[in-house]
Parts: sequence; structure tokens; C-alpha cells
Amino acid sequence: MLYQRSSALFDEAYQYIPGGVNSPVRAFKSVGGVPIFMKSAKGAYMTDADDNTYIDYINSWGPAILGHTHPEVLEAIKKQAENGFSYGTPSELETEIAKLIVENVPNIDQIRMVSSGTEACMSAIRLARGFTGRDKIIKFEGCYHGHSDSFLIKAGSGAATFGNPNSPGVTAGTAKDTLLAKYNDNEQVADLFRHNPGEIAAVIVEPVAGNMGCVLPENNFLQNLRKLCDENGALLIFDEVMTGFRLAFGGAQEVYNVKADLVTYGKVIGGGLPVGAFAGRNEIMDHLAPKGAVYQAGTLSGNPLAMRAGLTTLELIKKDENFYQNINKTTETLDFEIGKILNSKNIEHRINRKGSMMSVFFHINSVSNFDEAAKANHSLFNNFFHFLLEKGIYLPPSGYETWFISDAIKEKEIDSTLEVIRKFEYS
Ligand SMILES: Cc1ncc(COP(=O)(O)O)c(C=O)c1O
Repeated sequence: MLYQRSSALFDEAYQYIPGGVNSPVRAFKSVGGVPIFMKSAKGAYMTDADDNTYIDYINSWGPAILGHTHPEVLEAIKKQAENGFSYGTPSELETEIAKLIVENVPNIDQIRMVSSGTEACMSAIRLARGFTGRDKIIKFEGCYHGHSDSFLIKAGSGAATFGNPNSPGVTAGTAKDTLLAKYNDNEQVADLFRHNPGEIAAVIVEPVAGNMGCVLPENNFLQNLRKLCDENGALLIFDEVMTGFRLAFGGAQEVYNVKADLVTYGKVIGGGLPVGAFAGRNEIMDHLAPKGAVYQAGTLSGNPLAMRAGLTTLELIKKDENFYQNINKTTETLDFEIGKILNSKNIEHRINRKGSMMSVFFHINSVSNFDEAAKANHSLFNNFFHFLLEKGIYLPPSGYETWFISDAIKEKEIDSTLEVIRKFEYS
């Protein structure tokens, strides 16, 4: 494939935008090479600036669950645009989407809209701290909850110690209130509670992790977190920015039948426009301004274009009884068939999958936390990525990311993808 125009666009962008991109993971730093600039996307496909087309397995990192530029969502956005882009006042649309979500997602009474997943998680933590009157939170290595300071912390010398900031600009004062544990390690979480009695406001977790590759909860991990939070007066926050409306309409809460105290959303909830949200029971959400004292606000929160895109997307999902069954089946087929091909080539691997999220890890046979994800052969993943990219299959550009399957990916796209993978040679 030729990437002449893409390369020229990247060179130009590099002069004006830090690193040439507006979000680091787009820069191909993990897999090497020059990022590809897209100019359009429709259904299962994206087209780049050089007119190459790709079957897309990122789907905007999750939001495009219906595929790109779904005609009904497009029509709804166009119609809304004629009535104004932003009012800075309440509008009926905001209640409509809130009602649809509250009535169809377990265990939430109220929802507050924001403009990104980062904002949602940052605000949920503030609310949990305001509600409990405590400062500390527990997060898990390899889980990403956006780029607000409290979450940019990695383990120091062991999970039971205070974390160190892993970005300059995050103060030691902030870092000391973030405690770390390994994903799926029930004992470490219990230890953190034992050593910080009465101090932990919340545990925040990706109920199915997607930011160390796809990693599933094991050993009753989520149930155990629920129990420990109850025993210690802490709130359990499910970060469902990836899993919300993707694993099921009720997200991981529905799939695993575990109740969270607060839930954060992003991605699918905005149907491709910038939306995040956090939700919970009345007794907690009532603490938010203007009703309560915990402050949180946003000029473009509940933006009518974004609400219309989100609402139409959620309604389309809701209307289709077989939506999740179909999208999960597509993903299962992909998992099964890729597994068969890799086995036939004697390439040791592990495919983790839940619903329409999946990841392929090379040269490892089990991945249940960040350390194991790191032990996978990432240079082999990088070869695999570039081999597929060159042949028109667009995977996330890192072995630590999750593939998001859209409803636009059908048998034809699966067949084309498998045909390419059959040609992959491990050298
Ligand atoms: C689980 C999770 N939480 C939060 C975020 C942050 O969302 P955003 O990028 O919309 O700020 C992400 C982003 O990928 C995410 O995967």
C-alpha cells in the first residue's frame, strides 16, 4: 500500500500538534511506523488519505458499535444540527436519554452527562470522596480511567505501598491517595483495606479490563470487591466506559450481576460524538451540585448534537432484540477461527474475549493481569499488526489494546480478515 499523502500529512501535523496527534495512542509508538490519516469511514470500513480502505477493528476505540456513520444516526444528527448546536440551557433531549438509560440499566437512579470518559471517572471519584468524607482510592495496575491526575499512578515497590506518579506533573500529594493492586488479586485488595482502615473512599475497576488488552475478571473478583467495599464502607465504582452498552445494555453490572455504587460511561453512550456520563443511586447522586455540595460542571455537557447521536445509537441497539447475540457471535467466530489458524501455524497464543471485546496475546497461554499481559510477545504482535494493516485490516496499534467488533462486521469482513491471517508467517 502507498501512504504518501498520509506521511505528508503526518509531517505537517508534527509541526503544529504535539507528536502530530491529539491522543498519544494514535501515534503508532507501540507498533512503530507512521500513523495513517483517515478521511472517511462508513459501516465496517475506513478510508485513508491515500484512498486505501481498511476493515476496522478499533471502531473509534469502541464508540462505533453500529459501524461507522450509521445512516439513521447521521440523519438524526443532521436534523438536530438544524435546530442548533449548543444551547447552554437544559433541553428535553437530556431527560430523554437519561430516562432511557436509568430505566434500562440496573441499579442507577440518576445520571449526569459530561463530555469524555476522563471527565466521568474524575467526577465519580470526587463524588465518592465527597460522599464518604475519605481521600484514598484503590485502582488496579493496567486499568485506565482517563488521564486525570489520580489515575496516572503506577505501582511503586509492591502494591501495598503508595503509588508513584507515572507522568511528570502529577504531584506526590495526589499520588499518595491512589493505592494499587493487581487485577484479579482478591488478597491484595483485602490487604489494602486492612492497612488503611476507614480511609478508602472507593475502589474503581474496569469490570472487564480493556486497557492491558482484554482481561476478564476471575476468582469472583467483582463479587469480592463488592463484599470488601460493603464491609469497609467504601463505594464500588465500575468504569464502564468500554463495557457500558457494549457487553449488554446494562453493561457489566447486568452481565456479572454485581451492583456498583457508581458507574462511569463513555464511548458507545455518545454514538461517536464526545459524551461521558456517571450514574448512581439517589442517595449518592444527590450530593452533586446544584442539589448537593460536590461541584461538577461543563459548558458542553448534555450538548444536543451529542445527546441526539447517543440517544439514536442506544435506541437502535435497544430496538434490535438480537443485537448483542449477533455481535457476540461475530466476535466468537473471529476468536475461534483465528485460534485455529494460529494453532495450525504452531504460534502459541491466548485470545481473551468477552462479548464484542477481544485481544490476541502471543507466546503466553493465560493473561489475567497486567504483568502477564506484559509477558506476551509484543514484538510478534507488532509484526502481526503491520502485516494485517498492509493488507487492509486495521487492528488497534498496540498489543495492550482491545479489539472492538462492530455490528457492521459481517461474514464477508470476517472471511477477508481470516484470509489475510492465513498468510501470516511467523519468522
Ligand atoms: C475504561 C476507560 N475509562 C476511561 C477512559 C477515558 O475516556 P476518554 O478517552 O473518553 O477520556 C477510557 C478511554 O479509553 C477507558 O478505556
